[in-house]
Amino acid sequence: PTIYAITPTYSRPVQKAELTRLANTFRQVAQLHWILVEDAAARSELVSRFLARAGLPSTHLHVPTPRRYKRPGLPRATEQRNAGLAWLRQRHQHQRAQPGVLFFADDDNTYSLELFHEMRTTRKVSVWPVGLVGGRRYERPLVENGKVVGWYTGWRADRPFAIDMAGFAVSLQVILSNPKAVFKRRGSQPGMQESDFLKQITTVEELEPKANNCTKVLVWHTRTEKVNLANEPKYHLDTVKIEV
Ligand code: UGA
Ligand code: MN
Repeated sequence: PTIYAITPTYSRPVQKAELTRLANTFRQVAQLHWILVEDAAARSELVSRFLARAGLPSTHLHVPTPRRYKRPGLPRATEQRNAGLAWLRQRHQHQRAQPGVLFFADDDNTYSLELFHEMRTTRKVSVWPVGLVGGRRYERPLVENGKVVGWYTGWRADRPFAIDMAGFAVSLQVILSNPKAVFKRRGSQPGMQESDFLKQITTVEELEPKANNCTKVLVWHTRTEKVNLANEPKYHLDTVKIEV
């Protein structure tokens, strides 16, 4: 099956560095289609140029987050992930047979190549541990006799699916047969986006544990430090135009 990676991304000083690391990983994965969704009113030149040289099958989308939702404490990238889902559904409306697996790949996380081998065998919805998240070294689904029976987490253990966006994959078939499943702004508290989405397409009993019964961390919720630009001049002082 093709792996579809939906990546929301937004303009900031580290953006190209993040996308470079991600592309360097994805380029090593067979049959991966990258759906890069810019949080912007239009496709940027920076990302267009980057993708053209990335050497990866890709689709370049954009949708701006409404201003009222750009606030600390509110979930991020809701509109962008939904745009990726809409594109996938549109593209496959006439050719349902093709096998595919979808996962949500934020632009700042760290992905091992092994993760892609694991997720490629997803039948409906698969899950695995995520490192450096929830105030712990890792969070993970608790597995008994091959079934998910609970969650090891230090944060909001009451979540029906106590899992980060980086901790699951969904088969294309499930996405297509649940055409209304989307990420919701209304009533979705931060940290509940994953649960609210998964609730629409699966149950805890149905989850397929990967990464040796969820005992191996293959993806890390790394976050890039805010860059110090204190010495950046107000006007372009350099002698030539620089692609950053
Ligand atoms: C955590 C989760 O891991 C995310 O999946 C979740 O979207 C996010 O919380 C949330 O608060 O909603 P975190 O590291 O805090 O992640 O979030 P970011 O990495 O800053 O953002 C997640 C993704 O959205 C990234 O790919 C980022 O590029 C993108 N993003 C972020 C935008 O497209 N627009 C923004 O304004 C901010
Ligand atoms: Mn992040």
